[in-house]
Amino acid sequence: MSKTSLPPVVVAGGAGYIGSHMVRMLLESGFHPVVVDNLATGHAEAVGQATFRQGDIGDPSFMAPLLREFQPACVMHFAAASLVGESMTAPAKYWRNNLVQTLALLDAMRECGVGQFIFSSTAAVYGNPVEVPITEQHPRNPINPYGHSKLAVETALQDYDRAYGLRSIALRYFNAAGAHPDGSIGERHEPETHLIPLVLQVASGRRREIARFGSNFPTPDGSCIRDYVHVQDLCTAHLLALKKLGEGAASTAYNLGNGSGHSVNEVIAAARRVTGHPIPVRDDPPREGDPPVLVADARRARAELGWAPQYADIETIIAHAWQWERSSLARAA
Ligand code: UFG
Repeated sequence: MSKTSLPPVVVAGGAGYIGSHMVRMLLESGFHPVVVDNLATGHAEAVGQATFRQGDIGDPSFMAPLLREFQPACVMHFAAASLVGESMTAPAKYWRNNLVQTLALLDAMRECGVGQFIFSSTAAVYGNPVEVPITEQHPRNPINPYGHSKLAVETALQDYDRAYGLRSIALRYFNAAGAHPDGSIGERHEPETHLIPLVLQVASGRRREIARFGSNFPTPDGSCIRDYVHVQDLCTAHLLALKKLGEGAASTAYNLGNGSGHSVNEVIAAARRVTGHPIPVRDDPPREGDPPVLVADARRARAELGWAPQYADIETIIAHAWQWERSSLARAA
C-alpha cells in the first residue's frame, strides 16, 4: 500500500500537547490527519501541515459535515480538560468538556457511520491504588471529577459498542511527559502545573525554585512516585490501537506506562544532571488528592498491541522536554 493511500483519521484536540505529537506521527506514517480543535488550550502552530478545522467537537452542525466530508476510519479523541486540581473546584467544566462534549461527538460519529474511536483515558480512573503496579483489572474508584468524567466516558463506550457497534480502545495514560526529539513541539500549558515542565522552567531561569508537594509520603525518599511515559511512546500506542481496531478488535482499555516509578526527588535529580542547573527546591504541603505511588502494569498493551516504549529512560524524557523548553524560549526571544 502506498503511504498516501491510508485513510483519514480525525484527531480531536490535535492542537494540544499529546494531540500535536499524534498528528505529526500520523503524517509521518502516511495517514491523513484531520485536526479538530477549538483552540481553547491548543496552539494552531502546533498542527503543522495537517488539515485543520477550528470548532467544537460537541457542535453537531460542525462535526457531522466534517465527518461526512472526510469519512475517517477512526476518531482519536485528545480534546479534554485534564487538571486534577482544577476539576475539584470547577467540576462543571470537566463534566461538560469531558463527558457532554464527548457524547455529542459519539452521536455525530453514529449519525455519519464512523465506527472506531480511540479515547485518551487516564490513571485517574483508578483513584487511590489498592495494589501497585496497577493492572487494568484494578478497581476503578476515581477520587476527583476529572477521573470520574473519564470513567463515565469509558462506561458509555461499553454501552455504545453493545448497542451501536461503535468499537473503541481507551488508553489510560499514566504521567505523559517529554517532547518531540527534534524540539519542535512539546508541552505548553497555561498555567503550567506539571512537574517536569515546571522543573525545567527553573533550569531555564523562568522560575526561581520548584515546590515539592509533600516530603513525608510512605515512599523510600518521602516524595510521590509516578510512572512517566514519553509522549512519543503514547502516540505509538495509538497507532497500534488504530491498527488493532482496523483488524476488527473488540472494545477494550489498556494502561500506558513504563512500569517503573520515579519520585519527585528523582525527577529533580535527573533534571539537574540533564541541565547542569542546581534547581532549588522549596517544601510545600502535599497537594490534595495526590496518591503516594502511581505505577502502571502495562503488560497487556505490550502483549496485545505489541507496544514497546522507545524512550522509557527518565533522563531521555527530561532531555527531550529540556530541548523543547530551550527552543521555545529561543523562539520567544
Ligand atoms: N509535583 C510537585 N510540584 C509541582 C508539581 C507537581 O511536587 O510543582 C508533584 C505532584 O505532587 C505529583 C508529581 O509531582 O506527585 C507529578 O505531578 P503532575 O502534576 O506532573 O502530574 P499528576 O501525577 O498530578 O497528574 C497526572 C496527569 C493527570 C492524571 C494523573 C493521574 O497529569 O492527567 O497523572 O493521577 F490524571
